[in-house]
Amino acid sequence: MSGKGYSSIPDNGEGSSQHDPLIIKELTLAKRTELFIRRHFYHILMIVFIILILFILAIYTLIPDAPLFPNDQYPATLKPGVSEYTMEQGRAKCNAIQDRPRQKNLPNKNRANPRAEPNQTPILIKNAIVWDGQGEILNNVDIYIENGIVNKIAKDIQLKDKSVKVIDAAGHVVGPGLVDMHSHMGVSSWPEFDATDDTNEMTQPLTPFVRTIDAFNPSDKAIRIVASGGVTTVLVLPGSGNIMGGEAYSFKLRPVDTLSNEDMLVQAHIKDEETKWRWMKMACGENPKRVYGNRGQMPSTRLGEAYLLRAELSRAQSLKQEQDDWCQAAQHTNGRFETGFPQDLSLESLVSLLRGEVLLNIHCYETHDIEAMVRHSLEFNFTISAFHHALDAYRVPEILRRAPNNITVATFADHWGYKKEAFQAIPEAPKILFDAGIPVALKSDHPVLNSQHLIFEAAKSTHYGLPAQEAFKTVTSTPANAIGLGHRVGSLRVGYDADLVIWDREPLELGATPIQVFIDGVPLFEETIIEPVAEKKTRVNNVAAIRGIPKKLEGAKSFILKNAGYSFLGEKPTQGPIQVVVEDGAIVCSAPDCGTSIASIQNAVPEFDLQGGFVIPGLVAVGSQLGLVEIPSEKTTSDGTVAASTSHDPKSIVSAVDGLKFGGRKLEEAYKGGILTAISAPMSRNVVVGVSTAFKTGAESILQEGALISSAAALHFQIGSNVKSSQFPTISSQISFLRQIFTENLKSDNRYGQGARGEIPIIISVNNKDEIATLIHLKKSLIPHARLAIMGGVEAHLLAAQLAKEKIAVILQPGLCTPSDFDSIHCLTGAPLTNGTSAHVLNYHGVKVGIAVFDDGLARNLAWDSVWFAATSPSKEMEITEFDAIRFVTSNLQEIFGLRVESNINEAIANEKEEFVVWSGSPLDVQSKILFIHTKSGGIHYPV
Ligand SMILES: *[C@@H]1O[C@H](CO)[C@@H](O)[C@H](O)[C@H]1NC(C)=O
Ligand SMILES: *[C@@H]1O[C@H](CO)[C@@H](O)[C@H](O)[C@H]1NC(C)=O
Ligand SMILES: *[C@@H]1O[C@H](CO)[C@@H](O)[C@H](O)[C@H]1NC(C)=O
Repeated sequence: MSGKGYSSIPDNGEGSSQHDPLIIKELTLAKRTELFIRRHFYHILMIVFIILILFILAIYTLIPDAPLFPNDQYPATLKPGVSEYTMEQGRAKCNAIQDRPRQKNLPNKNRANPRAEPNQTPILIKNAIVWDGQGEILNNVDIYIENGIVNKIAKDIQLKDKSVKVIDAAGHVVGPGLVDMHSHMGVSSWPEFDATDDTNEMTQPLTPFVRTIDAFNPSDKAIRIVASGGVTTVLVLPGSGNIMGGEAYSFKLRPVDTLSNEDMLVQAHIKDEETKWRWMKMACGENPKRVYGNRGQMPSTRLGEAYLLRAELSRAQSLKQEQDDWCQAAQHTNGRFETGFPQDLSLESLVSLLRGEVLLNIHCYETHDIEAMVRHSLEFNFTISAFHHALDAYRVPEILRRAPNNITVATFADHWGYKKEAFQAIPEAPKILFDAGIPVALKSDHPVLNSQHLIFEAAKSTHYGLPAQEAFKTVTSTPANAIGLGHRVGSLRVGYDADLVIWDREPLELGATPIQVFIDGVPLFEETIIEPVAEKKTRVNNVAAIRGIPKKLEGAKSFILKNAGYSFLGEKPTQGPIQVVVEDGAIVCSAPDCGTSIASIQNAVPEFDLQGGFVIPGLVAVGSQLGLVEIPSEKTTSDGTVAASTSHDPKSIVSAVDGLKFGGRKLEEAYKGGILTAISAPMSRNVVVGVSTAFKTGAESILQEGALISSAAALHFQIGSNVKSSQFPTISSQISFLRQIFTENLKSDNRYGQGARGEIPIIISVNNKDEIATLIHLKKSLIPHARLAIMGGVEAHLLAAQLAKEKIAVILQPGLCTPSDFDSIHCLTGAPLTNGTSAHVLNYHGVKVGIAVFDDGLARNLAWDSVWFAATSPSKEMEITEFDAIRFVTSNLQEIFGLRVESNINEAIANEKEEFVVWSGSPLDVQSKILFIHTKSGGIHYPV
């Protein structure tokens, strides 16, 4: 191999082909290709790989949405944006935010009512007095309504069209339908069941995201009853258990065939150009801290409430900022972002609030609660539309003015005292707020107050100084404006929705009741012939001239009153002019001519001209806890509550007299309302309530002479579902207990025996007709001599004849019932739905009727509560006279409780002769005021 180094075969192909030309010459093309490939294999591989990569990249840029990888396998470096669809949706949201009109809707004479019923006949109401809800009165005009709109208001409208229905209002007042801006109707339906209570989502304190429309029950019995009181629009709010309660909705109280909540909305079918408001409810003060504090949860204090509220608003503020940032960025690019428009359903309504699209209604009472909320609103830049309840708002108009808008105060006329934050209230508040230029609305908080009687809230505010038309505004245009619907409802003017009420008398008179109510031009009640208005008896006599105690009379024990319009002191009312002569604290004469008595008075005594004022006995409050509790929610202010017990031991019966406390605010206010005597039973969860005591409301202590009228006025029991307990789980166990204790004690010298034998009256609180029937039977069969009276008695009218026959009296509590409970569903709610009320039916059948106090704070309204029945007698036959009505709260109660003996009226009058109350006119007139009170010990005085 030494000489032939070249010829040696290379150990690889390349070497041999390069170095062997002979062989190369003889290679075929295929062979050459093969060789080439062999030689350049790695280069070719590299090129193919590069082309492949380029190809992939090309595909990726040309078809971006192609799902090359399952979502969760995106390589980190390849994160794509959201879809174009999501981007479009986000942009639409941005536009909606910017486009949404937030300006107030203005009245427009040419607008259409989107709720109009296409087949409703147009109506011409002739001969009306219009109260327009904005302070104007138009005398003797006609009103033409068509297509759900008030089309024309003018004198003597002539229409050629014969198909128009004509209603002669015969000179009655026609006003706008009332607007109740605080109602829980439909979410707290009548009768109340656990199953239908949808007022508060109290599982967490912040629920701005829940909505009343999702729970509103269009079949709530209250809807028709409330409409029968002239209320046509309500704002249905969630309750106040939560700091943020949720969204509210505004409904009209006209039933719709579809049973659709959405069709009942005031804003149903409105056009895009109108501002479609949203409403929200928040609450501060006692309620949320009580609800959550009791569970050991935040908030347990106002501190916690404020923090939680601010924290949630801060989250909403951040979300709003994210949305605004997103929108701004989206405006400047056509590209796609990594995330869509930022949203969170739980914050959606709050962000809307921050954007000024929501009218916020806040439940707050105390001055510092109101201030805290105003502070939060300025911190987070949201608008408070109205403070609700707000019983102390009248003290802080300057704080209300710190807000950039006019905050409406939606308050009660005179409801107070049920908890601490409502305890220091005064009924002059609406008038004081009005004077301070703060818009005032009155509302019901239905079912807290029955919204049916919303108009009476306005009437009461006139008693405390609010001018009449301003008072009418508090339930019409002011609440309508506060809920952003003031261009459609709350006024009777051309271009407004045809929501009207024909009143049976001036709306602010006591007992005012609708004859007919229209919503969207549709009449709601049976048609009646409208009688001309009875001439208004003006019986308010120059109140201003004799307000307060005349100097010369102050403290006088002997004096002469002249020119009284009426005296109700005796067995019969005496019509004036009447003279009343009082000598040394006792009435010596009350007659048209007291000449002899006057002559016999030794020294010259002061005389006073009553100018027609009324002389009325002191009223008697029964059924209340006056003297036993100041603030029901505060244990330290109360005697406490007797627990349920099945003990038969008569010694375990408690007596209210042992827990009596004088001088409290509740007693003072009752006294100012002319209540000189109270009969209070213990507070109890037991079937045996205890023994009531009768006492003078104006006394200073139990030791004062005459303070105690009776330490054992009556023996009280209660029967019914609200008395069920582990001791008495059934009505039957309650009745059985009564039967046992009476059977056991028929001859015993103890309270049960005395009750059974009629030595002490027996008062049983009960409402249901069958429970009352069972008690009538029990009396007849077991204790025929008992002096039994029913208290409550909502369904007693169904047994009126039997009650009269057995001489069982009925003390209605309240005087005007509601079918709020299952055992009260047969309540008569009055015109235009029922022919009279329980009081009328019972009185007609000869049952002795009393009217009890239902709410201690409202004891001062007892005179109104009773004369209401005189004002609303359904017929001559069923008439209750003013004197009858006064007896319901004076002598009838004294007779039922044995404080005066029926058979000896003269002696009774002698007992009464020491005290009376002088009113400036009839209590039937809400303008009448108590001028002064005369008692034997105090002489003439007025307790300011
Ligand atoms: C406050 O909110 C309103 C909308 O309700 C808005 O127009 C205004 O710019 C906001 N002001 C501030 C300081 O954010
Ligand atoms: C508040 O009410 C007064 C009196 O009606 C009115 O003059 C004023 O313009 C209102 N202010 C706002 C901010 O609406
Ligand atoms: C109401 O009842 C009275 C007494 O029963 C009766 O005379 C009157 O006709 C009734 N009215 C109506 C409208 O039913």
